Amino acid sequence: MPAKLLEKQLTLFTDPVSIIQAKPFVKWAGGKAKLLSELAKRLPPSFSTYYEPFVGGGALYFKLQPGDAVLSDRNFELVNCYKAIRDYSEDLIDDLKIHRYKKEYYYNLRDADRDESFLDTSSIYRASRFIYLNKTCFNGLYRVNKKGEFNTPIGRYRNPTICDEGNLLACSELLQGVTIEARDYQTVEVHANSGDFVYFDPPYKPVSDTSNFTSYTADGFGVQDQHNLAELCVNLSKKGVKFMLSNSDCDFILDLYKGFNIDRVRAPRSINSKGSKRGKVGELIIRNY
Ligand SMILES: C[S@@+](CC[C@H](N)C(=O)[O-])C[C@H]1O[C@@H](n2cnc3c(N)ncnc32)[C@H](O)[C@@H]1O
Repeated sequence: MPAKLLEKQLTLFTDPVSIIQAKPFVKWAGGKAKLLSELAKRLPPSFSTYYEPFVGGGALYFKLQPGDAVLSDRNFELVNCYKAIRDYSEDLIDDLKIHRYKKEYYYNLRDADRDESFLDTSSIYRASRFIYLNKTCFNGLYRVNKKGEFNTPIGRYRNPTICDEGNLLACSELLQGVTIEARDYQTVEVHANSGDFVYFDPPYKPVSDTSNFTSYTADGFGVQDQHNLAELCVNLSKKGVKFMLSNSDCDFILDLYKGFNIDRVRAPRSINSKGSKRGKVGELIIRNY
């Protein structure tokens, strides 16, 4: 075996960070873990920069681990977390180790965003709070009210892992050099160029009044947003940017993207407060290639 390869293999066995494959560090409503094999089958054979403008938990990003990537989302607290993991993973890990899974502790930390002084807290404090709440809240569901205040109640867990140190370090290593921004998905039109690839996983069009969840940000994501996104896809196509988009299987979305390549797939849903509604749902995978 060539000496260089042997050296690399030895490092892989002795360096715990290299052995762990980075995976999403938060559970996220609408997370794409269950749809990954369907998405992976439909990727373009090659592309320059990978864009994910509704990154959420980033299931597809962590599966692909593309070298050149731009990740963004309008959820400021989530994006702050990605940045803190990229830039200050060790301090963040130290802070995460302090948290306790206790009811009073949970509500005190959850309600910290009701106080004006929250705006002056450090990015490490906020990222640590965010991960703690995600690991201990009901169903891992990040939900905010109209004022942008986190309002999910505590969840019931036996012994939740609040600090997954190995994964956080692996995520940090992976995110080195990745552009991470808190911004609206519309900005991708300015940044992506011919040869780039964009994966859009927007809040889905609800298929009934009660079925879907769109409260990731205080503004929600309505019908007009779905129209604007479809228009953006047309503009990206004109620029030579490849896109893949997932959304719910309904006439509205089929109509909005007619003319593109549309596949129907069925995916198991995991975040729904009613256990009886966690079955398989129809989803669409839409591409311009
Ligand atoms: C369906 S989730 C993405 C899930 C992600 N693919 C995963 O695997 O976890 C939709 C995301 O869009 C974000 N979002 C909502 N409105 C947005 C907007 N106008 N611009 C950018 N991101 C937005 C939400 O914060 C949420 O993280």
